[in-house]
Amino acid sequence: MKNKTSYRNMLLRVGSFVLVLATPALALDLHDYDDDLMRDLDRTIKFFEPDITAQNASAAKEDAAILLEGFRYTEDYFGKKGVADAVAISRDGSKLVDVVLRNVEKGDFDSAAAAARDTTQVCKSCHELYKPRLAR
Ligand code: HEC
Repeated sequence: MKNKTSYRNMLLRVGSFVLVLATPALALDLHDYDDDLMRDLDRTIKFFEPDITAQNASAAKEDAAILLEGFRYTEDYFGKKGVADAVAISRDGSKLVDVVLRNVEKGDFDSAAAAARDTTQVCKSCHELYKPRLAR
């Protein structure tokens, strides 16, 4: 048992080392990136799906507005840097938030919650590609 665990840990460590080496984020200059906005997004996304499943339409709309602002910011930021992938990911995020809003309007909270979960994946997919893993 013990051996198996440490072998797995070793694989994980090797795996994340390879990811660090492979990440294109190392070549990106992020000094002017809005980390405060990212932290707002982080706080907001935690309430997004729970607000929807609680059928709290007004809270869900407030969350959506902040998230949309975030995705517009990243679309614009990475657009200026010419990082097409990150722009496309940001647009996917905005589209999903729109899907959430439309479903909240219709009172279809199940579909809205599903789109909210997908929105979280959008954050992750950009981070996997462009968020530096190492402390700066
Ligand atoms: C298109 C790319 C992209 C999208 C979309 C994106 N992020 Fe980020 N995020 C980044 C990058 C790049 C950094 C690293 C910035 C830096 O190192 O200065 C970051 C950093 C962060 C951080 C760390 C901030 C800190 O304290 O240093 C948090 C938290 C975060 N993002 C949350 C989110 C959440 C939540 C979402 C989705 C709602 C999201 N991000 C969407 C690219 C993205």
